[in-house]
Order: sequence, then structure tokens, then C-alpha cells
Amino acid sequence: MPTPSSPANPFPANVVTGRHELLYGGDYNPEQWPREVWREDVALMREAGVNLVTVGVFSWASIEPEPGRFTWDWLDEVLDLLHAAGIGVDLATPSASAPPWLARFHPETSSVDAAGVRMSVGSRNHFCPSAPAYRDAVVTVARALAERYADHPAVELWHVGNEFGQTCFCDLCADAFRDWLRARHGALDRLDEAWGTTFWSQRYADWSEVVPPRAAPYVHNPAQLLDFRRFTSDRMLDLYRLQAVELRRAGDVPVTTNFMGFFPGVDQHSWAADLDVVSDDHYADPEHPTPARTALTHDLLRGVGKGRPWLLLEQAAGAVSWRPHNVPKSPVQMLQDSLRAVAHGADGVCYFQWRASAAGSEQFHSAMLPHAGPDTRLHRAVRHQGALLGRLGPVAGTRVAARAALVFDWPSLWASELPARPSERLRATDQLEAYHRPFWEDGIPVDVVPPGADLDAYDLVVVPALQLVSDDDAANLARVPARGGVLLVGPFAAVQDPTGRVRTGPFPGPWTEVLGVAGEDWRPLPEGGVRVRSEAWGEFIADTWSERVVARDTDVLAAYAGAGLDGEPAILRRSVGDGEAWYVSTVPPSDVLGRVVRDCARAAGLAAPVPGLPAGVEAAVRGDVVFLLNADDVARDVTVPGAVEDLLGAAVVDGRVGLEPGGVAAVRVSPAGR
Ligand code: GLA
Ligand code: ZN
Repeated sequence: MPTPSSPANPFPANVVTGRHELLYGGDYNPEQWPREVWREDVALMREAGVNLVTVGVFSWASIEPEPGRFTWDWLDEVLDLLHAAGIGVDLATPSASAPPWLARFHPETSSVDAAGVRMSVGSRNHFCPSAPAYRDAVVTVARALAERYADHPAVELWHVGNEFGQTCFCDLCADAFRDWLRARHGALDRLDEAWGTTFWSQRYADWSEVVPPRAAPYVHNPAQLLDFRRFTSDRMLDLYRLQAVELRRAGDVPVTTNFMGFFPGVDQHSWAADLDVVSDDHYADPEHPTPARTALTHDLLRGVGKGRPWLLLEQAAGAVSWRPHNVPKSPVQMLQDSLRAVAHGADGVCYFQWRASAAGSEQFHSAMLPHAGPDTRLHRAVRHQGALLGRLGPVAGTRVAARAALVFDWPSLWASELPARPSERLRATDQLEAYHRPFWEDGIPVDVVPPGADLDAYDLVVVPALQLVSDDDAANLARVPARGGVLLVGPFAAVQDPTGRVRTGPFPGPWTEVLGVAGEDWRPLPEGGVRVRSEAWGEFIADTWSERVVARDTDVLAAYAGAGLDGEPAILRRSVGDGEAWYVSTVPPSDVLGRVVRDCARAAGLAAPVPGLPAGVEAAVRGDVVFLLNADDVARDVTVPGAVEDLLGAAVVDGRVGLEPGGVAAVRVSPAGR
């Protein structure tokens, strides 16, 4: 387990190994190569600065070629080789892909889709999480792995399964769903009440009639869809726990699993307590780069771990093979993607995968070591990155200190994606990104937190897209202005309670008082949007969405001029003691929203760490290090207040750092100078 940093060493240790270094490596699938290649791999890993590889994610058929017969020789040898080279192992349970023999002996272990089609072997992820034979087999192989390797000195982290979030609609899962619903709702008439089944004659006469949302002629009951999301997340968590318990029983190696950012498959907040280390897979699209969205995702993952350092466990070194057209990353993008993750709190950056597969389903996916071998531009970039990360040991284990929070949770995301809603164009993740962007542009740290989080550390709390909220969480957020903070709420907020039932009366129900707003109706806008006038921000066109709201005891900062809402409030601000509560009822253009968010940040006393940051240069602060990423193809000089040195080696003169085109810096600042 990680050791705390000692006073003799001023640097905290990384979140996995307790060493004062960042982690660097990738998925390593040696079973697809002959033994000679392993030796070459390990030698090349060392040269590249690799110190952690994930082994075994898809090795089940190689570990257990037939039921109950284990073949460990190859894995023993791989772990020994890696250990001898000083490379740690993130050892995975192989539950994501069962060998074909399991489906042969137990066809019910393969999942069934919503249309009733049973999945075949020959791909991966075809498991049913409820089939007893699958669950037994998963426990058997996890226990065997744990017993054999928990004390192996190479093993520094356990990795359970892979990218959880699969759904299954089979009869076994239907039984499990009913059990889950009984536990949540109690009696059947309570379920009927919660789901509103009186409408459309959906009322259930017997529990056996209740099924997962299988293929149906028209839209499903929205509350059933919401509960099936929750159930699926819990079912996956149960599958994770089945394995984690075996691993923990065998020793104290920390346990993780790899999440997928905003992927809706699991509610990561409800998993967080079960993970020693939070990990993420992030595949930025090099053809349409969205560094702001990537930074938002990193802030989310850091928030899932309540601010602890996390791991970027998978990304691509070049191109993926699952988009229709796979443009590769440039070496500059590769390095900046990794440093961005570190800047946003990652203690490690890893890839899928170490060596490109010659055969199999991902033979055209890039890797740290491409088909063409080590003497390639891509692999030289991998080594260069390893060398740079090697200089960032002082960053390992340090935290991002944010005074601003952005509120997000999965139930609201699920609610926002239900069918038959006012507009598909008002997307929760787009809204989040829009409100996050000004922080990203200014380099102001911001945590992404669930609505029930302890908010005391935050002077500014932004709620861009919280469509569904419980009374308790709503009260938690409403307290922010009352204690002198600034609360900024976006449109279509607090519309539903946790069952998905619309809160009747003026909206946003639990916040009408704190915001000084009484909403009457939601009004998606026709193409072309609506004109909005504001003394503070001038005249602008807002898009997609408007609302009819009445201001009560509050300042109207912007008013609609059109769309049937002439002169009615669009953006409002209410003073609450020393605090402020803001409501934005529309989707302003990004420059205007940027000014709204910056006004809130100013009111909350937040300032950009690098004033006058040139366009094209991204800044992010972690501990006492300011990371700078120049995405532009021109050189830039950046003045960082309090700059002492660039950990990556560039000269710092009078607080000024010179960035080459595509250049990067990790500038240590003295607290006194800032
Ligand atoms: C996911 C999986 C990996 C691999 C990559 C390819 O992240 O976990 O096994 O398939 O995608 O991008
Ligand atoms: Zn099933």
C-alpha cells in the first residue's frame, strides 16, 4: 500500500506504489507473442522509462485453457521478467472476456440484448453478470490469481475486469432486476407509484410482469429506464466486488478498475468507496481535438476519488482502430495529452497497448511500440515522454487545490438522456463543458463533484445541468450563498426528483427561493435562437433553449427580446447576505457565458494563476506546479508569477518561460511569489 511521505523527503509518494515518481506504461498482452519477444519488450520498456504495465486483462483463455486447469508458467515468467527489470505490474482479473468453453458448457453465461438476441463468443464482453456459472467461474479465476500472485513482488496494483458498464436483458437478469426493485421500492404498488404506471395502462398485477426495458414498440416508461440504469450500475459493482474481495483477502495490494469518463454505464460516484485508486481510459480524438472536454473529464475523475491522484490507465499513442476513420495523434498531441492528465491530478499515464498486435481484433490500433519497431518516430516520442515524466517525480501524490466546483452526477445524466424530453439539443455534457470552459481557458482549478459533496471548501459552485436532484442534495447546494459563496445554476435545473417524477409548481422547485426565480415553462427555441439584451454583456443571440421565469426579489442582468418573451428575465442574480445566487435560463454564446462565469469567479474572489495567458497556451495548476501546454505552432513567452524553475528543463528568466511551438513546461512556483 502507498506509504506516507516522510519528513526527510519533501515529495509525496504516488498513489499506487508509494514511490516518489509518476507511473508510465501500458497494457501488456504478452500471451500473443513468443517468449523471445518478451525479453525484447522488457529491455525496450526499460529504455522508454516504463515502470508499470497492465497484464492479464484478456488472458482468461491463456490462464485457464479448460475449466479448472490453470497454466501459470507463462505468467510466472512474464512477472519475473518484469520484476527483474524493475517494472511493476497492474495485474488484472480476466472477467471481461470469458473463454469460449464457458459458453459451450453454460450457454446462459452469454448476455442477451434488449431484442432478445443472445450474444455469441468470438468478440469480448459477452457475459451475463447474473449467470451463476459465470459468477462462479469469475470467482474461481480471481481467487486463483490472488492466491498465486498477491505476494509476487512485481504486483503493485490489482485491476478488476475492464471498462464495466455492460447490460444484459436475459431472464436471470430480469430476476435480479426484480430483486433490486423490491429492495428499492418495497411493495409492488410502491413501484407502480414511483414509475407512474397508471399512465398508458402499465400498472403491474404481479412482480413476474416486471421486466428490464426490453425491445418495445414505442418509448419506455422513463422511471423504468432510470431504475434499469441504476440496477445495471449496481449489478456491475456487485461483479466488481465479487472479485475485489478475493484480491483483498490475499493481501494489501491496492485495487482499481478502469472507468470511461462520462460513460453512462456506471455511476462512478457510487463505486468510489470500493476503489483504492480511481482510473480512467480516455481516447481523445486527434482529428477533432477537444482539450477542454478532456480536461473536464480529468477533473471529473479526480472528483470521483475526492481529490486523490488518479491514473490515466489507457489512451492511444497514435490512432485507435474503432472510429470510422482513424487519424493518428501527433507526437505533440501525445505528450500534451499525457501532461494535461498529470496537470489535472493523474499520478500515472498509460496506454493501450505496449506492443501493437499483429493479429486479432485490434491489429490496426496504435501502440507504444508500433509494428515497424523501435526505430520509429512514434517510439522515439514514447521514449522522450518517458524521460520527461521521469523529471516530474516531485508532482507525484500532490493535489489540485480548487476553490471552484462544478456539480455533476450520473442520475442527472441518465435523466437528461431519456426519450420524450423537451429537447435533445440541450445536452448535459455540452452544458457542463460550456460552464467548465472559462475555468480551463483561465487555468483556474475546478473540481467536478456530486451534488451531495461537502462543499465547504468551495467559494464558487456551478450547477450547469442538474436536471434530477434529491431534496437533501438540493438543500446542500442552496446553502452555498447563505454561507457567503456564489452559486451559479444553469437551465432546466432540479426539474425531477430521484424517481424521475417532475416537481410540480414553479421551477426550479427546491431553489425558487434561493435564486429568486419562479419558472413557468420551458421553451426550446426555433433555429436562429433569440435575442437577449444585457447592460453588463451587451446584446447577443442565445440558442437552443429559453424559459419563462418571473423574477422575485432579484436583479435581472439580461432579458429576452423576442421568442414570445419580450422583456422577460433571461439571466438573474440575487444577493443572499454576503453570497450570490445566479440563474441562467438559456444557452448564451460561449463568449457571453465566459463573461458570466468570470463575473461569478470574481465575485467569489478567484483569480487566474497566470494573468495574460496567451491564446493557444493551456495552463493548469497542481500543487506548486503550473503546467503550460502550447498547442500553437508559434513560440510563446509566458510570465508565471512566482516562477522558480521548469521541472522539464527550460530556462526561467525573471518569471518568464519560453515555450517552443508545441512546447510544454512544468513551472514550480514559490507560494510567496504568487
Ligand atoms: C478500450 C479497452 C482496450 C482497448 C482499447 C482500444 O479502452 O479497454 O482493451 O480495446 O479500448 O482503444
Ligand atoms: Zn443476464
